[in-house]
Amino acid sequence: MTLSIKVTKKQKTFIDAAEAEVLFGGAAGGGKSYGQVVDALLFALRYPGSKQLILRRSFAELDKSLIRAALSLYPREIWSFNSSSHVGRFINGSIIDFGYCATESDVYQYQSAEYDCIRFDELTHFTEAQYVYLLSRLRGANGYPKQVKSTTNPGGIGHTWVKERFVDPAPRGSAFAALGMTRIFIPSLLDDNAFLTASDPNYRTRLLALPERERKALLDGDWDIFEGQYFSEFSRERHIIEPFEIPSSWRRYRTLDYGLDRLAVLWIALSPEGRAYVYREYCESDLPISRAAAAILERTPKGEEIYATLAPPDLWSRSQETGKTKASLFSEFGVNFTRTSNDRECGWLAVKELLCPRGGAPSLYIFSTCFELIRCLPALTVDKLKPTDCSTEPHELTHAPDALRGFAIYHTRPSEERGAVRRTHWSPDMWEDYRAADEAGRIYLKQKYGEPT
Ligand SMILES: Nc1ncnc2c1ncn2[C@@H]1O[C@H](COP(=O)(O)OP(=O)(O)O)[C@@H](O)[C@H]1O
Ligand SMILES: [Mg+2]
Repeated sequence: MTLSIKVTKKQKTFIDAAEAEVLFGGAAGGGKSYGQVVDALLFALRYPGSKQLILRRSFAELDKSLIRAALSLYPREIWSFNSSSHVGRFINGSIIDFGYCATESDVYQYQSAEYDCIRFDELTHFTEAQYVYLLSRLRGANGYPKQVKSTTNPGGIGHTWVKERFVDPAPRGSAFAALGMTRIFIPSLLDDNAFLTASDPNYRTRLLALPERERKALLDGDWDIFEGQYFSEFSRERHIIEPFEIPSSWRRYRTLDYGLDRLAVLWIALSPEGRAYVYREYCESDLPISRAAAAILERTPKGEEIYATLAPPDLWSRSQETGKTKASLFSEFGVNFTRTSNDRECGWLAVKELLCPRGGAPSLYIFSTCFELIRCLPALTVDKLKPTDCSTEPHELTHAPDALRGFAIYHTRPSEERGAVRRTHWSPDMWEDYRAADEAGRIYLKQKYGEPT
């Protein structure tokens, strides 16, 4: 007998994916679960006697979605389904167990099981512990490939771990290695599934009516969403671009945040239209100034002219032991700084301005190779005590965004205005800058903000 099943291009990519861990994730209606059911069928037929497990978090979901889809799709001539044990048996000896994990410990019902392929549908409904435990059930001496293939929308309880495991480490659609295994994330969009958009043209309209967070998750398949996100204007689709050769005539900056705990440097080029492109990053922990300076210089190719290297004012405070500032030490090692401001509120507003589309396009783009900035910027949360600021916890997320903030505040204030801004009331951040500054720095700050009150 011949099977006639049509699949979308993305479903084909999912079916062909040979990585040890595969995630097909994104918009609701993109055809992910259907792809999963077709892939399980093809696996069962290709590998006689193979064993697979397909999981949903609850039995009701399993029954309504995957079992129903399998019953309508799998030809009765080649398989039978036992509706009390939820086991599907093929005539070539392959089996598919349909299972669920309602509680955290439900995974132990698979303690003595062995599978060639385990499939999670709606992976973000599971916990990482459940996932990792079930990975250990992949085994068997039959020589068949051992894989975990998952599908999901963003936004469930497991959103963060799934994003960290699959979405953040590499550009979308590119395989990568982790802990000795290969992984891939295949993004899914509603437009990938012409079967649905043709048969139900109003589906998109119904998703459009959802509240913003749900809409971003279910319609856009956006992974950068969660309650309390500080940069809610950030969007992977809008702000991340593939690297390109930057014309040598564009003005280039470096901007950094430095502490012994972490150095974060961003290289940013300005297009003639005034759009900023973060084209390189370097983030490293535990570097003394000599090594930090050397690392910055090493990563700036010869012939790449840097117009200014921007640094926050705290690098101008004097060390009690040596009487020197960090800025002067960097200068001794060959990196001269231009001082930016540490006014957090103005700085974050300036970042938000860059992210917001103006005339159809934002003013800030990030090369897809700048993983750290791409990871940290959308992960910052609103400070609960001061909603105009972002939280400084977890601290490790703050360094690359702080470097960007230094650039943003420098860039968005036209140079002729920079000395002329008059303020009568100084914020605590301005006072902090002032207290930390040396003589010349204090004169500069007074010129910038006006006399302190
Ligand atoms: N290759 C296909 N052929 C026919 N119908 C499809 C195909 N892929 C998906 N569909 C249909 O499109 C709808 C959405 O697919 P589904 O797999 O449930 O999406 P998701 O799991 O991404 O939310 C379902 O009604 C499904 O039957
Ligand atoms: Mg689904």
